[in-house]
Amino acid sequence: MTTQPKAGTARHGAPPHDATPTSGDRNPLREGLRLERIPEPCTMVIIGATGDLTERKLAPALYNLMLSGFLPPEFTVVGFARRDLTDQAFRDHLRAGIDEYSRNRPASASIWDSFSSSMEYQRGEFHDAAAWAELAKRLDRIDRDRGTAGNRLFYLAVPPALHPEIVRQLGAAGLASSGALHGAGRKGWSRVIVEKPFGSDLESARTLNRQVREVFDEEQIYRIDHYLGKETVQNLSVFRFGNGLFEPIWNRRYIDSVQITVAETVGVEGRGEFYDQTGALRDIVQNHALQLMAVFAMEPPIEFRAQDLRDEKVKVLRAVKPMSPGDVAHDTVRGQYTAGWVAGEAVAAYRDEPEVAPDSETESYVALKLEIESWRWAGVPFFVRTGKALPARATEIAVQFKQAPLALFARAGAPPMEPNILAIRVQPDEGILLRFGAKVPGPGFQIRGVNMDFRYGSSFAVDSPDAYETLILDAMVGDASLFTRDDEVERAWEILDPISAAWAAGEGGSLHFYDAGSWGPTAADEMLARDGRAWRRP
Ligand code: BG6
Repeated sequence: MTTQPKAGTARHGAPPHDATPTSGDRNPLREGLRLERIPEPCTMVIIGATGDLTERKLAPALYNLMLSGFLPPEFTVVGFARRDLTDQAFRDHLRAGIDEYSRNRPASASIWDSFSSSMEYQRGEFHDAAAWAELAKRLDRIDRDRGTAGNRLFYLAVPPALHPEIVRQLGAAGLASSGALHGAGRKGWSRVIVEKPFGSDLESARTLNRQVREVFDEEQIYRIDHYLGKETVQNLSVFRFGNGLFEPIWNRRYIDSVQITVAETVGVEGRGEFYDQTGALRDIVQNHALQLMAVFAMEPPIEFRAQDLRDEKVKVLRAVKPMSPGDVAHDTVRGQYTAGWVAGEAVAAYRDEPEVAPDSETESYVALKLEIESWRWAGVPFFVRTGKALPARATEIAVQFKQAPLALFARAGAPPMEPNILAIRVQPDEGILLRFGAKVPGPGFQIRGVNMDFRYGSSFAVDSPDAYETLILDAMVGDASLFTRDDEVERAWEILDPISAAWAAGEGGSLHFYDAGSWGPTAADEMLARDGRAWRRP
């Protein structure tokens, strides 16, 4: 175990207590502040609990939260899905996920026995009102037996096509009302976490937002983008706004350009059907990459609180210049991998992946040049790229600074200096690197680029929590800062829809092929070269 329990929380497995640890002594002025992290007793209902997400992400996250002492003793999990499982089979499914994917693994037998006794399973068809009524009764019973105080967190771990029906059923079964918001004798809160993708274009996202808001208020809705839960992404705000040093140069006067890279070595990982309908633009750029850009580029929020943070992020997205078909042809590149080698392993062509159409035009790689038309960023290109089957797994934001106004050392015969780079490594090998020129020891003025490198792994003796741990805990404490708001999601689609439309109409340049294990199509290099720049190798 690597993290310490937070003050005011009790370890799971400790005897339940009557009062919630903190509800009495909350300072209303601090309500909603991101720094306050105290979960109340609650039940988490995982809808679609037998799927991949539960096994890979949710079960490990809950287990690690419990080990770190963040779960209140009353915490209860209810799995709800179509498969016919016993409670024991459901617990085994979660345990298998922990044993395979958790950062602390395998699950310790004695700890698991105690923790898993708080988990139960209910079979139900999602369109069957009786199943939801039964779920409602079960949750009332859990409130009475386990002291969960009517607090419910619903996690929609199902394909997006099912979201509207499930949300409707939650409403019809009376499970969406929250005491503080809706009164009517109801105690406790009700919140819903909705997995990405949130819609597949602006219109579908608007429809989904409307459908979800017919049942839940915006403040009950937690749209997840797990990149926002990554430690390094949160640290980006601390880096910018907790230090006096960087903010003054965080603008067009000093920054030449910014590169945001989300590179993956994996292919479609058995998700061919989903991915072939989605593509890299919708799967990564619409959410993860644009969120990284928004956090990087936003103005300082008035306070570190959900509304203020999201107000600032949405302003960045609103300032992104929408592309015309001509811009799409000039400033975007889409690619698809052919057979190749990644890390010594043979990789089949994208079109040969199971459940992918043999003549698929879906992009597994995208490179874009975006412009943020604001006072801070006008004229600074933001180059965004993401791809699957690339040679390295690396997510980073690299800032290239402008050159010094005078090449003083060139006059003394030194070769041109590399630009200064600040690279924020989101993953793996989390950290921040500053690259600058230094004099090579000896006579003359030879200058070479050197690195100053902060690494999480060597500076802190604690493991970073997985993003899902952070986000589930946040939803339990009612902090939506790291979740996306309706207007952010819609604006992100507004930025990208013209790109998909131009591609679909054949106006935005053709699909380029790249070998698996290469850094993507050469057209992406040419796009930057036209701007006099080059992609950084993370
Ligand atoms: C998901 C995408 O949102 O993010 C996947 O659907 C992608 O295609 C994944 O592989 C990447 O997440 P991470 O945390 O592994 O970088």
